[in-house]
Amino acid sequence: MRLEGKIAIVTGGARGIGLAIMRALVREGAAVVIADVNRDGAQTAAAGIQEQGGRAVSIVVDVADPTSVADMVSAAKDAFGRIDILVNNAGIGGNTPFLETSLDEWNRIISINLTGAFLVAQAVAREMVGNGGGKIINIASLSGQRGGNGRAAYGSAKAGLELLTKVMAVELAQHGINVNNIAPGAIDTEMAKFAHDEATRAAYNYLIPMGRYGTPDEIADAAVFLCSDESRYVHGHTLNVDGGFRAAGLMFGSNKAVPRR
Ligand SMILES: NC(=O)c1ccc[n+]([C@@H]2O[C@H](COP(=O)([O-])OP(=O)(O)OC[C@H]3O[C@@H](n4cnc5c(N)ncnc54)[C@H](O)[C@@H]3O)[C@@H](O)[C@H]2O)c1
Repeated sequence: MRLEGKIAIVTGGARGIGLAIMRALVREGAAVVIADVNRDGAQTAAAGIQEQGGRAVSIVVDVADPTSVADMVSAAKDAFGRIDILVNNAGIGGNTPFLETSLDEWNRIISINLTGAFLVAQAVAREMVGNGGGKIINIASLSGQRGGNGRAAYGSAKAGLELLTKVMAVELAQHGINVNNIAPGAIDTEMAKFAHDEATRAAYNYLIPMGRYGTPDEIADAAVFLCSDESRYVHGHTLNVDGGFRAAGLMFGSNKAVPRR
C-alpha cells in the first residue's frame, strides 16, 4: 500500500497502459480519477474498481481541449478534494511515412500527444503548487528517441514530451513537484495491434534483446515506483521500460534471449 491516501488522475485510463497503471495505483491504495475521451470505457473501468471496494470515478476529457481539461481538474477536485499524482498517459498512435504525413494528421497527433500532455500537466501542476507538491509521470515512448519508420508526427510529439518533462522538472522542483517520464518500448495493447502489422511485429521482436513485446502491467509496475516516495530523488528522468530496446546495437542471433516472461 505504497500510495495509501493518495489521489491520482490517469488520463487515457479506460484501456491499455493507462488501465493497467490505474489498477496498479488502486492496488497500492490510491483513489483514482479515470479521465478519458472514451466515456463508456472509463465508466466501465471505474465500475470495476468500485465493485472491488476501491475508490475510482470516471471523467470524460479531451486532453487536446483546454476547456475540457479545466473541467476535468475541477471535477477531480469535486470528487476527491485534491490531486497528488498525475499520470499523463492519453495518446494516439501514428504510423505514416514522412512523405505521406498530411498536415491534418501531424496536427492531430501533436495536439493530443504533446499539446494535450502539456495542457493537462500545466492545469494539474497549478493545483499541486497550491497543495505543496505532487508527482507527475508523463508517458513518452522509445519512438521519441529513435528514428523509427512512420513515426514523423508520433515520434516528434514524444521527443517533445521528453524535453517538456525536463523543463517541468527544472521549474517545478521548487514547488515539491517531482516529474519523470516513462518511455515504453513495444507494448502489446490495442494501439500496437492497430499500428503494428506482422512485419512490424517481427522487426520489433528481432530488435528487442528480450525478444518480445512488453505488457501493460510491466509499465504499470514502473509507474508505481515513480508515483511512490521510493523515487523521491529521481527527477527529470526518462525510465525506459523496453526490454533493452534502447540499449541495443548489433545483436547476433545466438545472443538473442529466448522470449520468456
Ligand atoms: N502500446 C505501445 O507500444 C506504446 C509504446 C510507447 C508509448 N505508448 C504510449 O502509451 C500511452 C498509452 O498507449 P496504449 O498503447 O495504452 O494506447 P490505447 O490506444 O490502448 O489507449 C489510449 C487511451 O487514451 C485515450 N485517449 C486517446 N485520445 C484521447 C484524448 N484526446 N483525450 C483523452 N483520452 C484520450 C483512449 O480513449 C484510450 O483509452 C500513449 O501515450 C502511447 O503513445 C504506447
